[in-house]
Amino acid sequence: MSHQALIQIKDIGRKYVIGSETIHALKSVTLEINKGEFVALMGPSGSGKSTLMNILGCLDTPTRGEYILNGINVSDMSDDELAEVRNKEIGFVFQTFNLLPRSTSLDNVALPLVYAGYSKKKRDEMAQRALESVGLGNRVDHKPNELSGGQRQRVAVARALINNPSIILADEPTGNLDTKTSIEIMGLMEEIHSRGNTIILVTHEEDIAQHAHRIVRMRDGLVEDDYPNKDIKSVSPRLAALREKGTDFENI
Ligand SMILES: Nc1ncnc2c1ncn2[C@@H]1O[C@H](COP(=O)(O)OP(=O)(O)O)[C@@H](O)[C@H]1O
Ligand SMILES: [Mg+2]
Repeated sequence: MSHQALIQIKDIGRKYVIGSETIHALKSVTLEINKGEFVALMGPSGSGKSTLMNILGCLDTPTRGEYILNGINVSDMSDDELAEVRNKEIGFVFQTFNLLPRSTSLDNVALPLVYAGYSKKKRDEMAQRALESVGLGNRVDHKPNELSGGQRQRVAVARALINNPSIILADEPTGNLDTKTSIEIMGLMEEIHSRGNTIILVTHEEDIAQHAHRIVRMRDGLVEDDYPNKDIKSVSPRLAALREKGTDFENI
């Protein structure tokens, strides 16, 4: 069997028609992303990053070209079919956290499991473990307004991971955080990546992009540049120590 990338995008375009005007948000984008990659998607405002993320996250479909996700051709799916793929394959992290304000951390994290059909007891156990894995085992009963910005984003990361998705899509996850907290969240992203997860991160900050292992730059609806990051910045002290010892990250 030939090698198959987790994400295969072939010559996709997305145009918006508004009255007599046609906007080519994506002109022609071809990309392959393998399982376990950590990619930063960069580019100026209006270059098509969000449009591409929406397509990658199965929130939207291209107006031309093909998107094959984990072997499934999702290019022409109906909204219902897309929703199903999305729930199974994608974990989202947003700039504004998007937590339910009146629900506890535990309930926020457990929510995606409701659609997956687990019992309440099982959901709570899984959510508890996910919160522990992002360092919030002692904040399960807190509501979002009882948490700091960084803690809220940790809850959102735990929620994104709970269904064991194929891809984590993070759109400016540090956009609402101060520098110190941004670094903490990037440390968490590094940990998640080191456990074998695939991460695609949109950011306009060079500092944040330097944590990724591959950088894709967009301009005017096209990929302008796509290269491995030669100078990966790592902030997780635990990972730095392991790297020094030459630990194989696939096995931790
Ligand atoms: N729903 C929409 N309707 C019309 N035009 C849109 C829509 N969404 C995005 N665009 C246009 O498509 C282009 C790319 O937008 P976007 O993907 O949001 O860029 P970025 O996220 O890089 O800032 C822009 O010119 C934007 O105005
Ligand atoms: Mg955008």
